[in-house]
Amino acid sequence: MSDVILVVDDDSANLMLAHKILGGIYRIAAANSGAAAFKYLENNRPDLILLDVNMPQRSGIEAIEKLKTDERYSSIPVIFLTADKSAETETKCFQAGAVDFVGKPFVPEILRSRVKRTLELEQYHYGLEKLVREQTRQLEERAKRIDEIQNYVIVGMANLIESRDGSTGKHVKNTQIYVTMIVNELKRLGYFSKILEEDYMQNVCKAAPLHDIGKIKIPDSILQKPGRLTEEEFREMQKHTEYSVEIIKNIIGDVEDEEYVKVVSDIALYHHERWDGTGYPKGLAAEQIPLCARIMAVADVFDALYEERCYKSPIRPVRKVMEILEKGKGTQFDPVIVDVFVGMEQELKEILGE
Ligand SMILES: [Fe+2]
Repeated sequence: MSDVILVVDDDSANLMLAHKILGGIYRIAAANSGAAAFKYLENNRPDLILLDVNMPQRSGIEAIEKLKTDERYSSIPVIFLTADKSAETETKCFQAGAVDFVGKPFVPEILRSRVKRTLELEQYHYGLEKLVREQTRQLEERAKRIDEIQNYVIVGMANLIESRDGSTGKHVKNTQIYVTMIVNELKRLGYFSKILEEDYMQNVCKAAPLHDIGKIKIPDSILQKPGRLTEEEFREMQKHTEYSVEIIKNIIGDVEDEEYVKVVSDIALYHHERWDGTGYPKGLAAEQIPLCARIMAVADVFDALYEERCYKSPIRPVRKVMEILEKGKGTQFDPVIVDVFVGMEQELKEILGE
């Protein structure tokens, strides 16, 4: 299919001449005013517009300004047709967005070659744009895939570590679900709106599975001990928070973005801190504890109580666990987060099949 050229000129002799010069090579549409041109454009998209500068009702400059500010037409190249070859007119035409201009009366060879060159450039431009779009799409897809693989590896690794203390691997998945529920609900209800921005929310949900990764360095004799830990064993166990940060820095410190690494590290390091300041490892209190870690603390304890471990039997039903969490409001946990989580009790019961 040959290209379509819209020629806009109030002088019908010029329209006929343009048709004569270009008609054998291109399909020509003619309009004898700016208004007629816009009417044509409502239902058609030419590949090029040849536009007369001096027309009675609407000048060519006005017409091109209208074309260039309307995204339906702004990418169509425009060549000006003018009998006025002054530098001033020429400047005005280019400023208005013309790609070229052709003097009148037409010299057939000049008109043909300007039109041909503009259409070739346009095709080249379009081809480049298409290529960039396609490559951007491929890059985005690849980045998404790498992200997915990274998540699989992270969750897989976290599951392996969790399986050592006899949890079924559900802990990683479940705590991530609870964290996601809490984050979304806090956002919905307007809590912590300055912190809970889109990126932060995504980072917290993605980071949740890594909260106990440091347990890999805790010996089985402590991790799997059925009874109470001695003081020394408990001190060793507490170190999993700091071990986690070391491991996180080593394995994702260089490949993930800074904000994400900060969130993962905060969750890992501070998820055993308590609202009243008596937790570990730093003894931070209240809002000194990063929000992500306060959320993790509630999700983590809920799951630890609700599920079975080699050293403890499960506490059921959900209501009973919620009562324990409520008792920890303002001592162990951020009261707002507990309230929000308790508020989702019905949803939780459905997820857990109660
Ligand atoms: Fe932990």
